Amino acid sequence: MNKIEIKPGIYWVGGIDWHIQDFHGYKTHRGTTYNAYLIIDEKVVLVDTVKHYLYGEMLARIKEIIDPSKIDYVVSNHVEMDHSGSLPKILEEAPNATLITSVQGEKGLRRHYKRDWNFHVAQSGEELSIGKRTLVFVHVPMVHWPDSMVTYIPEENLLLPNDAFGQHIASAERFDDEIEWGVLKEATATYYANIVMPYGTQVGKALEALGGLDIDMIAPSHGIIWRSRIPDILAEYVKWANHETEARALIVYDTMWGSTERIAYALAEGLSEADVPVTVRSLKNTHISDVMTDLITSKLILIGSPTINNGMLPSMGGFLTYLKGLRPKDRLGFAFGSFGWGGQAAGEIEKFMKDMGWEVPIEYVNLKFVPDTEELGNVKSIGKELGKILG
Ligand code: FEO
Repeated sequence: MNKIEIKPGIYWVGGIDWHIQDFHGYKTHRGTTYNAYLIIDEKVVLVDTVKHYLYGEMLARIKEIIDPSKIDYVVSNHVEMDHSGSLPKILEEAPNATLITSVQGEKGLRRHYKRDWNFHVAQSGEELSIGKRTLVFVHVPMVHWPDSMVTYIPEENLLLPNDAFGQHIASAERFDDEIEWGVLKEATATYYANIVMPYGTQVGKALEALGGLDIDMIAPSHGIIWRSRIPDILAEYVKWANHETEARALIVYDTMWGSTERIAYALAEGLSEADVPVTVRSLKNTHISDVMTDLITSKLILIGSPTINNGMLPSMGGFLTYLKGLRPKDRLGFAFGSFGWGGQAAGEIEKFMKDMGWEVPIEYVNLKFVPDTEELGNVKSIGKELGKILG
């Protein structure tokens, strides 16, 4: 097993999860990695661990570098089990190690593992000298859980931010200049949209707290390590944290007998005629976590469902529940649907949009059974009108 040295004396000792496709409901087409880092100084430090079933890979990587019993400190930046899952086993290998975590981290780790480990609770801003280097711990609550913390090493200009700046990519490559930027940017956007989006305010605060630091490498706990595109990814994070979007439209729908789909396509035609780039996604064949990748950049969101049993299709109900939890802000919304009788779905979608605080400039469209040519012409005009409003 090759040693992977990311800076002199600092090693990537993570695990590659090639096969995972469902990360608590998020479709991870490219798999992922769980990144752990080993720092060799006067003291030996392991920062984070890996998901429990990749413990053997992490341990083998550590053993290539040092006897694991020599680990003095294990830093747990985040309690979630994809990073803490190997703590029980590695702390058996290194029984004298001190486990450093945040205030909420200690509480969370005790609840998860029921162990009386040798905890040291790090306050935000606390520094620990490990020899030539210093570890600085900064709390970043809600990026991604209340316990989340980052570790910064000023002598190395190295930030270990755990989930922040991560992406779900399994690959042989470890660095951002070894992988195509478009792939990396999209994977980072998908990750942000599905994991971090609800916490834009906290991300903004974290970016402020980290803003004064000299950083030439960002080594997150998932995916690729940033060293060549740090300004690019920071700029994206600032945009996403502020819910900044582009003048693009996203149409998301499901359909029973094709009527709602016809409305979706008529809207797309009108938007295109107004020179608005539009993306069309059917929930029949697009996973909801992939829809979020389109949604993160789109200002105008059009959502449609037929009515079934006095409500919307269950696929749409599931999507809206997911969307509500991720809390995208500052959007323009438009609802549409079709029905045979009853006809509640389109109105329910519009109400959902208003409850989300989105602006709804044009009232929903709801067409009985199968839309005719005239109705589709009117829908197309609404698409054009929405395009003009979007500017
Ligand atoms: Fe990658 Fe919030 O855990």
